[in-house]
Amino acid sequence: MLVFAKIKSVKQKISSLKKGTSVGFVPTMGALHKGHLSLIKKAKKENDLVVVSIFVNPTQFDKKEDLVNYPKTIDNDLELLKSVSCDLVFMPSAEEIYSKNIKSEIFDFEGLEHQMEGKHRVGHFDGVGTIVKRLFEIVTPTKSYFGEKDFQQLQIIKKMVKKNNLPVEIIGCDIYRETDGLAMSSRNVRLTKEHRKAAPFIFKTLKEAKLKFGIENAVNVVQWVQNEFKKHPLLELEYFEIANEATLQTISTKELKQKYRGFIAVFAGNIRLIDNISL
Ligand code: PAF
Repeated sequence: MLVFAKIKSVKQKISSLKKGTSVGFVPTMGALHKGHLSLIKKAKKENDLVVVSIFVNPTQFDKKEDLVNYPKTIDNDLELLKSVSCDLVFMPSAEEIYSKNIKSEIFDFEGLEHQMEGKHRVGHFDGVGTIVKRLFEIVTPTKSYFGEKDFQQLQIIKKMVKKNNLPVEIIGCDIYRETDGLAMSSRNVRLTKEHRKAAPFIFKTLKEAKLKFGIENAVNVVQWVQNEFKKHPLLELEYFEIANEATLQTISTKELKQKYRGFIAVFAGNIRLIDNISL
């Protein structure tokens, strides 16, 4: 496994290995877990060469303390990457990516960016778009893999690729869960014991909401979820929305032949967890 920190050297290496080769790319912010490894394993199956980036991107954090406290487990990450036969790791510094200008490009994602996470984390998706576009320029992947836990991010990246005609195929991958249902996230390690024990309530509620959505209207289901969290002593609901999968617009009535998803953000103490479910 080769590890690079400089753009110039990683680009040179990829172009020397690339000729006629498909490149699978998994961008990450490190603190790797089984969810990341499942993306990398899929990329391994579908490509000749697999590149993983580890970069905690400062421009996508709306809160400084979240950036500062983001878990960093680099030695363990590299061990895990070796265990799944990753070929090449790119782990640049912020200066290498942004020089002295740590700023986002401003994007128009045709409204996708104004819903849910975009409402609650202002500027977040400009930061994500900026780094993913930059990494695509450097890595020149054939396919790039993103988890559906960040479903809005996945849709936004697909939109960016389409609008800019970027020569990469975006592959969405199923949410990887702990055995008790909690969606895997790098932030889970920061939960207190009590909050970790309480957190599976999020997916349990999503599953019940899915059942209710089959027989009730969207407004009632949203209210039901809000009430469930009001009763919960440890978890605080930030939002639960039922939205159209393609437009991410919140709905109040169901239409035939449309796909819907329930999206949720919850505070467990000061750790913010997100999840979603296909309805
Ligand atoms: O999903 C993530 O971990 C990040 O948003 C990504 C795609 C690596 C960009 O920094």
